[in-house]
Amino acid sequence: SAPTIAVFVGSLRKDSCNRKLAHALEKIAGDRARFQYVQIGDLPLYDQDFDGQYPSQGTRLKDQVRAADAVLFVTPEYNRSVPGVLKNAIDIGSRPYGDSAFAGKPAAVIGASIGQIGTAVAQQHLRNSLAFLDMHVLGQPEAFIHFKDGLIDADGTVHNEGTQKFLQGYVDRFLALIAVHVKGD
Ligand code: FNR
Repeated sequence: SAPTIAVFVGSLRKDSCNRKLAHALEKIAGDRARFQYVQIGDLPLYDQDFDGQYPSQGTRLKDQVRAADAVLFVTPEYNRSVPGVLKNAIDIGSRPYGDSAFAGKPAAVIGASIGQIGTAVAQQHLRNSLAFLDMHVLGQPEAFIHFKDGLIDADGTVHNEGTQKFLQGYVDRFLALIAVHVKGD
């Protein structure tokens, strides 16, 4: 059956271009994957004192990641790094020490920005964290989506043929990576 992908969108705003990008990838994957969006906007700020008694939103996130075959991070760049909300979600999913939900999962990183080189630096920072968390991160293709008005609709329709083709290739490579790991389970 189709693998489940836990999707983290690193932006909370309604009109997020990264959410549109996530919907585009979901549409392209079609029945080859099940996208499950992980709620990160209601998480408390990680506090190491949680480790004794974990907050329910944290346990919910970890359960969702554990149940998934893979994890997809679709993120904007804030001040040349990962938005705090996303970093907080990763910190919460990674703890208590020795009980990370992320270890061993295949993962992929992608991001959209209105800036030319946008999200490259954020993605690099994110890759550092994911390597430390022992995730198997898709190396290629790298995907830095230069977002212009009307590029992708809220329902994930892509209006540029080149972008559509590129995203199809990206999804194919990610699904191939997931297949290797699911088979090996
Ligand atoms: C930004 N933006 C931005 N863009 C970029 O390419 N590099 C950056 O370092 C930053 N820094 C940054 C900081 C903060 C606090 C904000 C609010 C924005 C612009 C950003 O790419 C733009 O707002 C995107 O539209 C954000 O993605 P979503 O929310 O549309 O998914």
